[in-house]
Amino acid sequence: MQPSADSLHLGNYLGALVNWVRMQEEYDAFFFIPDMHAITVPQPREELQERVRRTAAQYIAGGIDPDRSTLFVQSHVPEHAQLAWVMICQTGMGEAGRMNQFKDKSAKQGADSAGVGLFTYPMLQAADILLYQPHAVPVGEDQKQHVELTRNLAQRFNHRFGETFRIPEPIIPKDAARIYDLQNPTAKMSKSAESPNGLLNLLDTDKKIAKKIKSAVTDDGSEIRFDRETKPGVSNLLSIYSALTDKPIEEIVEQYQGKMYGHLKVDLAEIAVERLGPIRDRAEELLEDPAQLEALLAKGAAKAREVASEVLADVYDKVGF
Ligand code: ADP
Ligand code: NA
Repeated sequence: MQPSADSLHLGNYLGALVNWVRMQEEYDAFFFIPDMHAITVPQPREELQERVRRTAAQYIAGGIDPDRSTLFVQSHVPEHAQLAWVMICQTGMGEAGRMNQFKDKSAKQGADSAGVGLFTYPMLQAADILLYQPHAVPVGEDQKQHVELTRNLAQRFNHRFGETFRIPEPIIPKDAARIYDLQNPTAKMSKSAESPNGLLNLLDTDKKIAKKIKSAVTDDGSEIRFDRETKPGVSNLLSIYSALTDKPIEEIVEQYQGKMYGHLKVDLAEIAVERLGPIRDRAEELLEDPAQLEALLAKGAAKAREVASEVLADVYDKVGF
């Protein structure tokens, strides 16, 4: 998750972080904070540094265990940039130009003013992945194309220089929660939300969490039922409820038969405060001791480099460096 906001939001937490936390039980996992990806759009120095720290604190507070998994900051492991150059040199212009994210983002910024970093970041992403010889990489649907590119580049390299990279499989969790804006529930919850009340931040105070949920947009009628088309507001609250409690949506609907939207909101506000409050408190505790947090990340980077440096040395040797 890019360190480009002060706080992660509920969508980042329920849609991604919760799954990563689960995966670390089953996998030897590597998680990093992509500060090099963040500068594909300009970032003020102090803000970037602060947001890297905040993101790390929220990863840990949200359940990433830095003893069990390897947690680090991308720029602390120079092998990412070093392998990225080799990956860039394996990639065709047309191939890179076909990346949907590039097409979307460069169309928004204008083809001439979009940065070259926007064009080459999928190759940095390929390096991010391949440096650790992973069996699998957890991604959202929108990143599937980049994993496909990663696989192609790895296969191309192996073909040209001999067996080097393991070809990773994308893991796209089918049941990952998709969270919508609380004020505009047909749009995905996003850090670029129009209304600040539509965005539930992981670092919000208890009072703010409760207020945002209680003032969430609901729908016409009063029946509590899951229907994305005609009841996007209530459906969003139901999926948040379900994701926070691990209760199936049908069970929650049953539980609120004959009750009003207000009941659902009051209960959900309480559930959210109970679940998110301790994460915020823990993140703030970690942020109060920047030296300890930095030491933790340095340890993670050292662990990452043990793996990454070997893979890079092999690649450089094969290329002829
Ligand atoms: P944003 O959309 O706020 O810019 P990112 O694109 O940085 O968030 O997303 C980081 C991660 O969080 C990705 O894995 C993405 O799939 C997940 N994510 C972001 N928004 C949501 C959401 N509303 N619901 C579920 N998952 C989300
Ligand atoms: Na985004």
